[in-house]
Amino acid sequence: MEIKKANRIDQIPPYLFAEIDKKKEEMRRKGMDLVDLGIGDPDLPTPRLIIERLKTAAEDPRNHRYPSYEGMIEFRTAVAQWYEKRFGVKLDPAREVLSLIGSKEGIAHIPLAFVNPGDYVLVPSPGYPVYRVSALFAGGIPYFLPLRKENGFLPSLSEIPRDVAEKAKLLFINYPNNPTSAIAERSFFEEVVIFAHRHGILVCHDAAYSEIAFDGYQPLSFLEVEGAREIGIEFHSLSKTFNMTGWRIGFAVGNSEIVSGLGRVKTNIDSGLFQAIQEAGTEALLRLDTPLTEIIKIYERRRDIMVKGLQEVGLEVERPKATFYLWIQVPKGYTSAQFAALLIEQGGIVATPGNGFGESGEGYIRMALTVDEVRLKEAIERLKRITF
Ligand SMILES: Cc1ncc(COP(=O)(O)O)c(C=O)c1O
Repeated sequence: MEIKKANRIDQIPPYLFAEIDKKKEEMRRKGMDLVDLGIGDPDLPTPRLIIERLKTAAEDPRNHRYPSYEGMIEFRTAVAQWYEKRFGVKLDPAREVLSLIGSKEGIAHIPLAFVNPGDYVLVPSPGYPVYRVSALFAGGIPYFLPLRKENGFLPSLSEIPRDVAEKAKLLFINYPNNPTSAIAERSFFEEVVIFAHRHGILVCHDAAYSEIAFDGYQPLSFLEVEGAREIGIEFHSLSKTFNMTGWRIGFAVGNSEIVSGLGRVKTNIDSGLFQAIQEAGTEALLRLDTPLTEIIKIYERRRDIMVKGLQEVGLEVERPKATFYLWIQVPKGYTSAQFAALLIEQGGIVATPGNGFGESGEGYIRMALTVDEVRLKEAIERLKRITF
């Protein structure tokens, strides 16, 4: 019997990192030592206090049973307290906070709650690939908003055709931004709120990198802007904030109807988040001051080393104010894929081709600062030996 996949699977490109993993495997087989700047997965450990809390929470038999769908009230209260302390935004933990099995899970599920087949979903390009895929899975039509250098890598909302805006149901935005590392000022969020109110669009702001910012800069919450809570939610993650990518814990906050819509999808798909992890997350949010200065200092140093090295070899890159990504223009005469291939084949340096994040990422590669300084310096030395 021929086993045929559903159209929904056939229409999505292979997951971005799966392709890169294949190339890495091939180079490794050839004996190449790789400096992997491909995936944004922090190399630093989770703070001790969080690990200790998990250990004790894992012993408690109350945590061995099914968790509540929406998350423990203690965790949701900790989220609300953190939000108030960090952003000055007050949230009702019972109605405006939902735990997630990592923010990716919430992003992947939200269109199922709000997008009907044929509705447009406004998706930044380049952007985190899950926005597009989640829109497609729900039968929506992704409409790409190019993020261009000359516009500070912000989407130009006024360029969206009227008929598209009228048929759009959801808008994804993400600042500090992956992959461009751009940040958004309050004025941009205000513009988004006006646009969303005008066209009846729900806004999903992905704030996964809000606690990875440099030189004293503190990113805003979208919910700080007046009117935002009426039309939007914000996705957050403990992954990057506390070096907890493997733990799978995040949350959605904001408009209670949007939060409950997402919750309704989840009750039919998953059974919540291991309570011991929620206890550990509660500990993190209540006991640690974010951004965690020790990790920020490390990323700042890495950023400075790498930006200097890249500029010395003649590559164009800006010194980012946030995220642990560098968004680098490829030299003339190369596509993103060709330049990424050159780096891995000749230098064993793994970078992500920008077009993997969407068509408008063509002409760039992304490097993640998630390896130590020694290896970054090694990458620079190798770069110096490559001719391009
Ligand atoms: C922009 C953005 N959003 C969301 C996520 C998902 O993070 P998590 O599911 O670990 O919370 C990532 C992960 O890399 C990301 O880059």
